[in-house]
Amino acid sequence: MTSNQATAIAGPLARFVAGVEAVLDCRPAMPVTIKQVSALLLELLDDSSWLAEAAKRPRDDSYARHLLHRDRDNRFVVLALVWRPGQGTPIHDHACWGVMGVLENSLQEVGFERLDDGTQPGFAELRELTGRQVSAGSTSYLLPPYQEIHAIGNNTDRMTISIHVYGRDIDEVNVFEPIGRTVRPMRIKYYDPERGGPDFAI
Ligand SMILES: [Fe+2]
Repeated sequence: MTSNQATAIAGPLARFVAGVEAVLDCRPAMPVTIKQVSALLLELLDDSSWLAEAAKRPRDDSYARHLLHRDRDNRFVVLALVWRPGQGTPIHDHACWGVMGVLENSLQEVGFERLDDGTQPGFAELRELTGRQVSAGSTSYLLPPYQEIHAIGNNTDRMTISIHVYGRDIDEVNVFEPIGRTVRPMRIKYYDPERGGPDFAI
């Protein structure tokens, strides 16, 4: 399996994908999408035996993003993210809905509120919100425009695996630096263990 081209899926992942497709076929409002996809994801988190070994492989230089499924109409993607202890993201946004759930171990998630109006190029002022620990079998979500900036990371001493569903195939996000009050775009890629790591990742 390569991570740049998701292969045919089966079992619990296939049932999950079919469930998400059925949700999106009804074109629900974004909060309803998040609620229904979260319920489906909770079922998928029941055990981790369905996840291919190749999608459990970490990287040394950053956390690993493995593409599990890309919707043929580009309505959503499903990823497995693998985090060594201490690995994490910068503060970033998504510009789409998202649901994440922890399959093994736990992740720390810190949300941020944007205080400026976004009209000044390169400038962003953030306020840190309450952080939370998302443990195995639990989910969190992203709901633009007010709940989609966060940083997540593995603050434990064990490997963490999480499953992420996004409402678009994310290849670029905005990265924030709150002390300097800057924001800049950053391209991101999937990890392909057969081809080596991407040039950059968050
Ligand atoms: Fe994120």
